[in-house]
Amino acid sequence: MGDMRRIRNIVILTGAGISAESGIDTFRSEGGLWERYRVEDVATPEAFARDPGLVLGFYDMRRAAIQEKLPNDAHMALARLDAAWKGDLLIVTQNIDDLHERAGASRVLHMHGEHLKAWCTACDRRSPWRGPLIERPPCPACGMRSLRPDVVWFGEVPYRMDAIHAALRTCDLFVSIGTSGAVYPAASYVRNARDLGAQTLELNLEPSKGSPWFHESRHGPATEMVPAWVDELLSGLG
Ligand code: APR
Repeated sequence: MGDMRRIRNIVILTGAGISAESGIDTFRSEGGLWERYRVEDVATPEAFARDPGLVLGFYDMRRAAIQEKLPNDAHMALARLDAAWKGDLLIVTQNIDDLHERAGASRVLHMHGEHLKAWCTACDRRSPWRGPLIERPPCPACGMRSLRPDVVWFGEVPYRMDAIHAALRTCDLFVSIGTSGAVYPAASYVRNARDLGAQTLELNLEPSKGSPWFHESRHGPATEMVPAWVDELLSGLG
């Protein structure tokens, strides 16, 4: 990777691969969620309108599962970088688990929402939520039984894209970790960053759809690649 001393502002995009070694299913790698469920049955607004029980049950199962998992060495390494890095740093995660936060990271942006939040379609309030939604419990703010997972479904607009684009415009280094580059707009960020002059690095188990766009791609498990990269970056500060 180029001259690391001139790196001040970093954007890190993470995907399901960073949580794989914590035991959380990915979507498109071997045995992933989309091999067992159809997106159009459980992850679209139309699916929710058609069969809310199926959709709520799907997210209840995943919301419960993530609460039994722990952050892995990759999440811990990014939290260490977040704490040590004096320049701008933003972890844009496609993941809806809270493993970045539980590892101690604070500069995290969930562009696809969060498992541990419920969104009331009556009053638009978002509430912290750890239990099931299948019984249609009342919204803590307005009492209406109109809660849904606070998760961005296919066909819906990802959250805080303005903040993401602002960070991409000023970053010197864009690093993508554990994502297949299959879903937009996240899959376009490497090109945006590169066009704007950033160095681009991919850390992934195997080549992804986006690999050709990166100046450098390193392949291997996140729990090995991410700590090694963070050590390299922080030692380059010396
Ligand atoms: N270490 C590093 N990378 C890994 C590991 C690992 N241990 N295990 C798997 N990977 C890689 C896979 O090779 C794959 O490229 O992580 C990537 C996971 O890709 P996907 O399953 O497609 O997950 P992601 O890219 O996050 O999906 C994007 O699609 O379904 C939607 O909203 C959902 O946020 C998700 C989005």
